[in-house]
Amino acid sequence: MEVVTETSLPLPLVKKGKVRDTYRLGDNLLMVSTDRLSAFDVVFNEGIPHKGSVLNMLSAFWFKKTEKIIDNHFISTNIPQNLPAYLRGRSMIVKNATPLRIECVVRGYLTGSALKEYQKTGSVCGIALESGLHDGSRLKEPIFTPSTKAETGHDENISFEKAAGIVGGDAAESVKKKAVELYKFGRDYALGKGLVLADTKFEFGYGSDGKIILIDEAMTPDSSRYWLKEEYDKGRLLSLDKQFARDYLEKTNWNKQPPPPPLPHDVVQKTSERYLRTYRMLTGKELEVS
Ligand SMILES: Nc1ncnc2c1ncn2[C@@H]1O[C@H](COP(=O)(O)OP(=O)(O)O)[C@@H](O)[C@H]1O
Ligand SMILES: [Mg+2]
Repeated sequence: MEVVTETSLPLPLVKKGKVRDTYRLGDNLLMVSTDRLSAFDVVFNEGIPHKGSVLNMLSAFWFKKTEKIIDNHFISTNIPQNLPAYLRGRSMIVKNATPLRIECVVRGYLTGSALKEYQKTGSVCGIALESGLHDGSRLKEPIFTPSTKAETGHDENISFEKAAGIVGGDAAESVKKKAVELYKFGRDYALGKGLVLADTKFEFGYGSDGKIILIDEAMTPDSSRYWLKEEYDKGRLLSLDKQFARDYLEKTNWNKQPPPPPLPHDVVQKTSERYLRTYRMLTGKELEVS
């Protein structure tokens, strides 16, 4: 199977993101998940086999499972026959929405940028946490830690008040409530499948009727941190997402600025295996590889 890192379709390109290419398809959008890997906001040259399909099919899985909590942009993974075969499995037809200009992060466990902030200030996005927490600590209650949605460069953690200043108070309250509910649903489901969903990021947007819906991707290994429960219970954090690639990059002397360094073959393979494993564990199925 070939990896797909670039797409070119006879449709109007709406956006080329770090990972996904979005085209206009009539009134809707066609979102194509490529096999591109981004880490530290830099896109690597090597594609990760099956990554795009995992992201796409896992999002479809979660969109269906969570539609009772909130309506979402998902329409179908069956794409028009006349489009190239390499798009199958990695593409989704979605409703066009106007994205809210914040990223809605929910954390049930402390790690990553939140851990760093906590170690410096004792709080995360203005939320004071109890003392003595360490990397991987489960929080008493999941916290909503929004961030800016930077067009270029790094997203920045912000307080709830600042988020409300960007999207409006009512919208901020509403997405906070929904994001936490979605996270709790995903966390409990994943735990039953042997995975710890440490944190995740949601995006919301206004649909054509003006109601807020869930958009973008849903609880994928790109937008979330997944740890193997078996290891977590023994006090170890084994990540089933792109943390493996991040850990490798941290050990090199790369300055995290473009251009990206080459990724060794085994890092590519192991990252691919981790994405596939997450898919398998959550859905109980093998990814159908076309
Ligand atoms: N239903 C939707 N309508 C409009 N835009 C969307 C929708 N779902 C997702 N998006 C946007 O499409 C882009 C997805 O591509 P991605 O590669 O994740 O981009 P980024 O580099 O910004 O993270 C994001 O900018 C996201 O906000
Ligand atoms: Mg994105």
